[in-house]
Amino acid sequence: MKALWYEKQGAARDVLELGEMPTPQPGQGEVRVSVRASGINPSDVGLRRGMPGRPMQVPRFIPHSDGAGVVEQVGPGADTAWLGKRVWIYNGARAGRCFGNAADYICLSQDLVCELPEQTGFAEGATLGIPAMTAHCCLYSHGDIRGKNVLVTGGAGAVGHYAVQLARRGGAARVLATVSSAAKAEVAIGGGADDCINYREQDVAAQARELTEGHGIDHIVDVDFGGNYEAGIRALAVNGSWAAYASSGNRAPTVMVPALMGKNINLQFLILNSLPHVVRKRAQLEVNTFAGSDGAIHNIAGRFALEDSVAAHELVESGTKLGTVVVEHEVP
Ligand SMILES: NC(=O)c1ccc[n+]([C@@H]2O[C@H](COP(=O)([O-])OP(=O)(O)OC[C@H]3O[C@@H](n4cnc5c(N)ncnc54)[C@H](OP(=O)(O)O)[C@@H]3O)[C@@H](O)[C@H]2O)c1
Repeated sequence: MKALWYEKQGAARDVLELGEMPTPQPGQGEVRVSVRASGINPSDVGLRRGMPGRPMQVPRFIPHSDGAGVVEQVGPGADTAWLGKRVWIYNGARAGRCFGNAADYICLSQDLVCELPEQTGFAEGATLGIPAMTAHCCLYSHGDIRGKNVLVTGGAGAVGHYAVQLARRGGAARVLATVSSAAKAEVAIGGGADDCINYREQDVAAQARELTEGHGIDHIVDVDFGGNYEAGIRALAVNGSWAAYASSGNRAPTVMVPALMGKNINLQFLILNSLPHVVRKRAQLEVNTFAGSDGAIHNIAGRFALEDSVAAHELVESGTKLGTVVVEHEVP
């Protein structure tokens, strides 16, 4: 089969190789999926480039943890009902797996695939794994959101935009989003945000309090805990909660414990791939229901052929993507 891989970490154009390798056979409880699209997330390019504490641990790594395709073989013990089903995939290249979706075929546990809703295309399905499931896990990290004021920082981002949509559909009282431009505000409002706050120009906490009639925010879904800490602590209501999935603006913030304690703030940092199975399973199923619902928006930042994966990785690294960068695969 055709596959994209790297055998050392580095710049996309230096280390990504496209070549032939044996087609994998599904093992116990596994299905083999003919991959039609794969999604590239910031962590896929981070692992390829090399991140602190994340050296290369295998001789060869096939990237792109998310994907979508058609099940065309099942291994021993796997449910034969999967045969011929259109599916989307998560954790294809995480949690100990080193052969991801950037290939003609992927073999993986049937637990990591979910049947694509009829109206959802393969490219859209390849945006669900990391972005939508992370959004779901952050949104529900501290229980039901019905009637709560939710703040999604970076509401036009790949994760953030799914969080805005899920919060709207989940019955939040108010959904506020922070953005850095009018164009991104339009995207977040299009996803269902009630109001947007430009975090580079406005006092986020003051705006959030005003927009919630002085109550404040009950739950934050946060793309940058360190960068947003000062605003978040002021914006939160007593007994509020805060789920952070990244902290690029300040990776080592100083936290004022009395400020967090004084408001009984529940704080969770999370990384999707190793959350408890029950949490990921719920996210997988509820994201699927969302994907199949009318008006679900899947922002695709760019579509590339597998042969053009270097350019696809570079678009993710550019910091200008709006949504998920997707590689569309030819049927072998
Ligand atoms: N923990 C996990 O499991 C997990 C899962 C998925 C992603 N991540 C991480 O989360 C980050 C975002 O991923 P993504 O795919 O959603 O990226 P993305 O599509 O580039 O979205 C990030 C968004 O956040 C905005 N932003 C950046 N700093 C901000 C701040 N301080 N306040 C408000 N908005 C801010 C960016 O826009 P502006 O720069 O224009 O403001 C952008 O719209 C990456 O670092 C990724 O590695 C973690």
